Amino acid sequence: MKFIGDYQILREIGKGAFGRVLLAEKDGHQVAIKETLTRSRTALKAAQDESKLLINLNHKNVVRLFEYFTSGVPKRLYMIMEYIRGRELFDIMCDEQVFVNITEIAISSFIRQVCLGLEYLNNCFIVHLDLKPENLVVSGADGVYKEIKIVDFGLARKIEAGERFCCMNGTRGYMAPEQLSFEQISDKTDMWAVGCIT
Ligand SMILES: Nc1ncnc2c1ncn2[C@@H]1O[C@H](COP(=O)(O)OP(=O)(O)O)[C@@H](O)[C@H]1O
Ligand SMILES: [Mg+2]
Repeated sequence: MKFIGDYQILREIGKGAFGRVLLAEKDGHQVAIKETLTRSRTALKAAQDESKLLINLNHKNVVRLFEYFTSGVPKRLYMIMEYIRGRELFDIMCDEQVFVNITEIAISSFIRQVCLGLEYLNNCFIVHLDLKPENLVVSGADGVYKEIKIVDFGLARKIEAGERFCCMNGTRGYMAPEQLSFEQISDKTDMWAVGCIT
């Protein structure tokens, strides 16, 4: 049996550029743990920034971060998050048998919920900058969907009032013109990605 802190690891549920996401359990409650696997200091700092930003957020369409800590040699960062039992929107879109049965009502509900999450982020002066179907997780199973939640705040950033912030990071295909041309980022930047997803 493998443990991270008090959490018993059950299985891997996701993989990304710098780490992986594990399903774990403590006192009968399941959580998702995002673990940085790289030895690079830059990646550790990025994971710390991601955690500091996410820990203050609380909205039903944004994944909750309960706690985070570093441990081990070399140091790794562990983000203890709510487990969204379901599938990435990306998987749903790629699964022809499932996708063909999704109604327009369900799709419009997904997009409405993403917009509610974005409205909340916008009120907190946060831009996500990497919205795409891989970073949207739909809870529910067997075609019965409950909620959609925004995950992966790896590129997210708080923009202070009056601050000029430019950034070329993101995923091609979803990036707004101002990301591609290194011009000022705003709340509209995430809306461009919503347009691409839709
Ligand atoms: N809280 C969660 N509950 C369920 N699945 C999750 C959760 N967080 C992430 N995932 C899954 O793990 C994948 C990778 O996580 P993500 O935060 O996007 O990492 P990366 O920054 O490496 O892309 C996601 O695309 C999603 O499928
Ligand atoms: Mg991701």
